[in-house]
Amino acid sequence: MQIEFVSPDAASFDTGVWAGAVFEGGGLSAGAARLDAAAGGALGRALSSGPFNGAKGKSLSVVAPAGIGVSVALMVGAGAERDFDETRAELAGAEAYQALKTSGAELLTLSLAEASAALSARAALGVRLAAYRFDRYRTQEKAEAKPSIARVRIVADDPTAAEAAFQPLAALADGVIFTRDLVSEPANVLYPEEFARRVKALEPLGLEIEILGEDEMAKLGMNLLLSVGRGSARESQLAVIQWKNGGDAPPLAFVGKGVCFDTGGISIKPAENMEDMKWDMGGAGAVAGLMHVLASRKAKVNAVGVLGLVENMPDGNAQRPGDIWTSMSGQTVEVINTDAEGRLVLADAIWYAQQRFKPRLIVDLATLTGAIIVSLGHDVAGLFANDDDLAEQLLAAGKASRDELWRMPMPEAYEKQLESLAADFKNVGGRPGGSITAALFIKKFVRDTPWAHLDIAGLAWRKPQAVATTPEGASGFGVRLLDRFVADNHER
Ligand code: BES
Ligand code: MN
Ligand code: ZN
Repeated sequence: MQIEFVSPDAASFDTGVWAGAVFEGGGLSAGAARLDAAAGGALGRALSSGPFNGAKGKSLSVVAPAGIGVSVALMVGAGAERDFDETRAELAGAEAYQALKTSGAELLTLSLAEASAALSARAALGVRLAAYRFDRYRTQEKAEAKPSIARVRIVADDPTAAEAAFQPLAALADGVIFTRDLVSEPANVLYPEEFARRVKALEPLGLEIEILGEDEMAKLGMNLLLSVGRGSARESQLAVIQWKNGGDAPPLAFVGKGVCFDTGGISIKPAENMEDMKWDMGGAGAVAGLMHVLASRKAKVNAVGVLGLVENMPDGNAQRPGDIWTSMSGQTVEVINTDAEGRLVLADAIWYAQQRFKPRLIVDLATLTGAIIVSLGHDVAGLFANDDDLAEQLLAAGKASRDELWRMPMPEAYEKQLESLAADFKNVGGRPGGSITAALFIKKFVRDTPWAHLDIAGLAWRKPQAVATTPEGASGFGVRLLDRFVADNHER
């Protein structure tokens, strides 16, 4: 996808497809008014012929308008003009792309908010995110089913300023897309070492990256993480990604659950929908994408990403229900259910991050529990935190980025559910409040650092397209959220 910003006089109406904004009440944006004039009032006639009046989420297309070469002129409903902000511009760009992607045209011209460089840039971001697809394994797709748009021209009064405004957003899109690719890959391709290799390949962005294998983790006593990978033919890995551009401030730590495939292990899952568990590394994928963004836009912050990369398989060497392990923290855990593996991975990864980096805060991301989907569904992720300020910052970043969160409680009384007869505690607390007891388990591995846990099980993968910027499949949830969280609260 090639995106360019051009001035109004450089954008002709002689080829491709075109989209412009129409505000509620029928007001044409500047570009739409120009096209209308060139096409002898075709847009105005279409507007007065039906119910479309510029309401957001609606659109109206005029096919083959007379007098110009554009094959489709799409009027994108932009809502009330005074409310047309960066979010609306982004969604309008995404909606226009979705509506026209299989039009057969190679060039899409977008005239949504010419007067504003910021809004033009956001429209470009909308297109980049909407145009994502994971098609590297499709060899027989019919040409007409494939998106035809290869070039998007965005009309802006000041193309240079729009291009400049787009730079950090392009970094953001690159990060989200990096995450989506990781999450989309099947587990035969993306196993822990391959994940680690793809992360390691980010070094040219200026990131410092270390990969620890099983021997190194065994020396560190990371037995909980290692217990999960015991049944796998693939070696478990820990990826440590550092971005240093914040002076001597202690880093922010982001820890991701990277279960490249979760069969459940000996506590095996039912066959139905088990294929979904290829995206059980969505937390680690989001942290990798975040580090990609921070480095690409040279964020003024110190940050470290720690990814626990494992595969949870049944095998003669796999851990058994009832096994007891000593964690890196020294606390012992009785593994009642080998399918509650994410928290085992996080426990050692979080401990490692604290011990080594003394971070000023920790945020972990994990597709941790089916129970969070029961509680919150597929539009908001669960937020658990031991610190109200951190929780507030994350909730605000969630609203701003539209990667939304809902704060969940962590009643101390529920800790009882984790009591074990034989070890310091069990890895599961039974069905009641399953996401909460999972969070309480992780909390046992957090010392006095502000910490938040994001249970993204309902968000890492989007079923049918719910938002124009997020096609069905891997969403990249968490990347925009945390980029915004860093930008708004933690950059120098
Ligand atoms: N990866 C799953 C959670 C999950 C389920 C993510 C569905 C996305 C969609 C996790 O490892 C898991 O298996 N959790 C169990 C925990 C239970 C054994 C206490 C669950 O949620 O059933
Ligand atoms: Mn599991
Ligand atoms: Zn899992």
